[in-house]
Amino acid sequence: MPLINLSGYRAAARRALPRAVFDYVDGGAEDEVTLRANRASFAALRLIPRIQEDNRALDLRTGISGQEMALPIMLSPTGNSGLIHYQGDLAGARAAAKRKLIMVVSGASNYTVEEIAEANPGAWYQLYPWVSRDFYGALIKRVAAAGYRGLVVTVDVPGPPKRERDIANGFTPPRLTRRNAWDIATHPRWTADVVLQVRSPGANPETAAGDLSLMRRGQTVIGRSVIMKNSTRCRFAA
Ligand SMILES: Cc1cc2nc3c(=O)[nH]c(=O)nc-3n(C[C@H](O)[C@H](O)[C@H](O)COP(=O)(O)O)c2cc1C
Repeated sequence: MPLINLSGYRAAARRALPRAVFDYVDGGAEDEVTLRANRASFAALRLIPRIQEDNRALDLRTGISGQEMALPIMLSPTGNSGLIHYQGDLAGARAAAKRKLIMVVSGASNYTVEEIAEANPGAWYQLYPWVSRDFYGALIKRVAAAGYRGLVVTVDVPGPPKRERDIANGFTPPRLTRRNAWDIATHPRWTADVVLQVRSPGANPETAAGDLSLMRRGQTVIGRSVIMKNSTRCRFAA
């Protein structure tokens, strides 16, 4: 399938990546119920065509927290991008900078916060508040010193998600199965782009209480109550 839409990219990714890695990106948690609902929500959106109107002066530029962006689109954080290509995060950061879009750099990156900030000085940083207060207090200072313009705190992952494809594929916990070994052997380009490139992982798996008081100081906190605001749609909301 040619690379003209998402289906084409998806098919190409399926060919290029070992199954466990493809499924990590393509799959979701818990029967993938939310994943399907998410896609259905996007599919239900309709654009209203404005016909016979002067649209020569269309301008999609917008801004958030005083930062300009070319389109109302941000790159949301994707952890472990280095598993797809070792320079994945760097490529995303460069592309976002070039197109004047805001990239939210994942806290699970294989590049340091400083390396990504150099590639994209307007990026935001995503943090999992899992480790000790001291750990992320120091990290936030580093992120601020590197020039990041925003901090996105992911609070809806208090523990490891049950991603069933990952368990079946021996991705979590990592297991070298016969199938994985075969997959690695039959994807030499991926092996060269990922396995033979050694970079230190950015994520730390320890968990800790989600004390956000450090992060409330300073800039406005956006969207802390997104789930609460939408909870009327949830049958099991407290
Ligand atoms: C492969 C993958 C990795 C992700 N990694 C992170 C991450 O490291 N941190 C985070 O806060 N969200 C992460 N997310 C969640 C996304 O940022 C995003 O919120 C979610 O995919 C919903 O947006 P979408 O409908 O555009 O996929 C990840 C999602 C995917 C598919």
